[in-house]
Amino acid sequence: MTHPELVIESSPGLQGVATLSGAKNAVLVIMASLILTGGKNTLYNVPFSHDVLQMIALLESLGAHIKMSRETKTLFIDTSSILSCAVSADIMKKMRASILVMGPLLARFNKAAIALPGGCRLGDRPIDMHLHAFAQMGAEIALEGHYLYAQAKKLHARKFILAYPSVGATENIMMAATLVDGKTTIVNAAIEPEVLDLIAVLKKMGADISLFPAGVIEIVGVKELHPVSHTIIMDRLEAGTLLLAAAVTGGQIALPEGPGHSLEVFLEKLVEMGHIVDVGFDGIGIYFKATQSPRAVSFKTMPYPGFPTDLQAPMMVAQCLADGTSTITETVFENRMLHVQELQKMGAHIQLNGLVAQVKGVDMLFGATLIAPDIRASAALLIAGLAAQGTSTLTGIHHLLRGYNDLSGSLRNLGARITMKTELI
Ligand code: UD1
Repeated sequence: MTHPELVIESSPGLQGVATLSGAKNAVLVIMASLILTGGKNTLYNVPFSHDVLQMIALLESLGAHIKMSRETKTLFIDTSSILSCAVSADIMKKMRASILVMGPLLARFNKAAIALPGGCRLGDRPIDMHLHAFAQMGAEIALEGHYLYAQAKKLHARKFILAYPSVGATENIMMAATLVDGKTTIVNAAIEPEVLDLIAVLKKMGADISLFPAGVIEIVGVKELHPVSHTIIMDRLEAGTLLLAAAVTGGQIALPEGPGHSLEVFLEKLVEMGHIVDVGFDGIGIYFKATQSPRAVSFKTMPYPGFPTDLQAPMMVAQCLADGTSTITETVFENRMLHVQELQKMGAHIQLNGLVAQVKGVDMLFGATLIAPDIRASAALLIAGLAAQGTSTLTGIHHLLRGYNDLSGSLRNLGARITMKTELI
């Protein structure tokens, strides 16, 4: 059996120009949405992370024909041949985003059968809002063992008032509603850039969707949807992670494609730390120069446009090395502090009280043997290793590969000393 690990050496002063990948959280749901079209679709700027390969396997298991070109970052997805509405437990357990096929399957076939989803260990991560919404639209939902069966004679339009702006629930409701007679309204909908990219794709298909201020989305059902070609938005979370890698190593980088307009709260925190951040006048393109004496800042994760929960772990690394004390509050997921004990191994001073971390900056982190517990924590530990004195090894890198096209490669291009070691165990 092979047991891959990353060996990360201290890499002061990352420098250079980095390109970005397409957004994982956008491409996964957009791939699922193509079920609605029953035709030949093309997606550009696709990041071939392991979760994307998993979604390819899922759609193929339903009957879709898929070709991919890594060179041109393109996926050709023909969903006209989809016949099955059942997703196997084997596929579902590897990726929570599999739940996102439920809305499109219900919309197109009036039925779906899926095993309960897996994915990162970010607490309970219930799917009650998805299921409750489908039930309110008229689907009968039954749980048999680990399998969920949903079936409807006909789905009905209605108004949903979400107790929380869940990204996945908003996306699933929207996709389910596109072909339903009448007007579906979602109040307190998630408005993450990845949700907006899905809306852009659904509109290209011919869906009638309007977005109103304060997170209200209206969907008026249409008779049919058409195949699309679409370029996936750039990954704001990868951009944020690269900026933090430059911040903790005292570097200077440019991201010409960086979506500064969708990272405003995060970028403002970097400025508050003393870093220099310049965003292109149209919101695209980010230039970053690290201060050599960063100040600690406090922050709280929130739904968009607040501070993204997916950047909480890498931002914590920056606070570990800042001057002063930072209070970091995670409000989105109840188990997204698993990186804390790994950072403590490196000499970080962090006191964790539930979902609130008090981080007292230290002068130096030290290389250690680290285990990545989830996707975003894996990126955080990678950049912590670059800032630390000495050598770190990181296992559990399947999480890193699930979430990013080639984050290690992008960091290497900026001067990071990272090597992959495969051990036989
Ligand atoms: C998506 C992203 C993930 C990101 C998150 C928040 C994908 C593939 N993943 O995850 O990277 O961190 O948005 O920006 O796009 N909840 C419920 N019941 C539900 C659904 C959600 O209680 O039915 C809770 C969750 O447990 C969590 C919170 O709502 O505490 C937010 O979850 P949600 O916004 O749905 O995130 P995901 O769509 O899973």
